[in-house]
Amino acid sequence: MMKRFVLARRPDGVPKADDFRQESGDIPRAPDGGIVVATTHISVDPGMRSRLSGDSYAAALALGETIESAGIGRVIESRNPKFAEGDLVSGALGWTTHLAHPGKGLLKLDPAFYSGAVPPTCAIGVLGVPGMTSWFGVHALSDLKPGEVFLVSSAAGPVGATAGQLAKAKGARVIGIAGSDAKCAWLIDELGFDAVINYRATPDLGVSLNAAAPEGVDVYFDNVGAEMLDQAIRVMRPHGRIVISGQVAEYNAASPRGIRHVPDFISKRLTMRGFVVLDYATQFREAQAAMAAMLRDGTLKFREQVVEGFENLPAAFIRLFSGDNFGRCLVRVG
Ligand SMILES: NC(=O)c1ccc[n+]([C@@H]2O[C@H](COP(=O)([O-])OP(=O)(O)OC[C@H]3O[C@@H](n4cnc5c(N)ncnc54)[C@H](OP(=O)(O)O)[C@@H]3O)[C@@H](O)[C@H]2O)c1
Repeated sequence: MMKRFVLARRPDGVPKADDFRQESGDIPRAPDGGIVVATTHISVDPGMRSRLSGDSYAAALALGETIESAGIGRVIESRNPKFAEGDLVSGALGWTTHLAHPGKGLLKLDPAFYSGAVPPTCAIGVLGVPGMTSWFGVHALSDLKPGEVFLVSSAAGPVGATAGQLAKAKGARVIGIAGSDAKCAWLIDELGFDAVINYRATPDLGVSLNAAAPEGVDVYFDNVGAEMLDQAIRVMRPHGRIVISGQVAEYNAASPRGIRHVPDFISKRLTMRGFVVLDYATQFREAQAAMAAMLRDGTLKFREQVVEGFENLPAAFIRLFSGDNFGRCLVRVG
């Protein structure tokens, strides 16, 4: 039997379990020239939140539509010569156990590439959209130079942790902001960050930032926005660059809080630039090869949190907004 989650209601604030509805039906048959995929792993991503309420850079999801997300699955029926039964594929599979797909736009995972230190789940994690966001945020936007100070928020998330390691590999001093002592310890002990701040434990984030970066910050890689962005603006050095990757603290707000301390942009000649990683899609393959080499030689690490059971998708998604997840959260389809 096929099961899927659809959007039942547009969330008001932090999403709730009954904003989603589970439906079931027959396992679909392959269309002419297409395939049927049985999903094995489905990702949950904070960026999806915006599309549940309205248009973002992609159109809003319609009520009753399957929730969109990246996934990995196995081909169980093929009427397409490019795919054989048993092939592993990744792409925008959505919150469903089975789907009929025309085949176009899916990536067939080469077992020789996705092996050893690079398991197939990397295709929707450190080598998927999150990792690509880190790579292009650091390499294409930040203009980071050796010896500079790099600050990243939601630093223990898949984007933040990868961005920090890539900045370290470019010779930066790396400071991470994260929401628990366990996350902060991982960043220092396992990933080699130079300093960390547990923002939930500090009474004054501005004071903590000044202590962690007494010389100021050259690049702020922002995954959070709101108050954290304001505090980062205060510690930017002259000619500092702010890369806007995400605004997770804003996604559940009815209207954005907005940016304070704008005069600092004038006095310190700051720049701030946002981006959509899909704009770099033609360069993904090259970045993935470079990052896979780093995974194999141990200079890049990642962490996954695999939640068992398709029915736990809404709960896993909601946990992203309380910080209870730790690493790239994937739901394994039982
Ligand atoms: N620009 C692009 O093309 C693009 C592409 C992909 C992703 N993104 C963005 O990149 C960012 C990171 O994505 P990710 O997949 O790595 O997810 P993530 O950072 O793991 O997001 C979940 C984490 O965000 C933190 N968080 C949640 N609510 C918060 C709040 N109100 N204030 C501060 N921190 C909060 C929590 O960590 P703590 O425990 O540390 O609080 C939580 O564990 C997201 O904003 C996402 O939208 C952008």
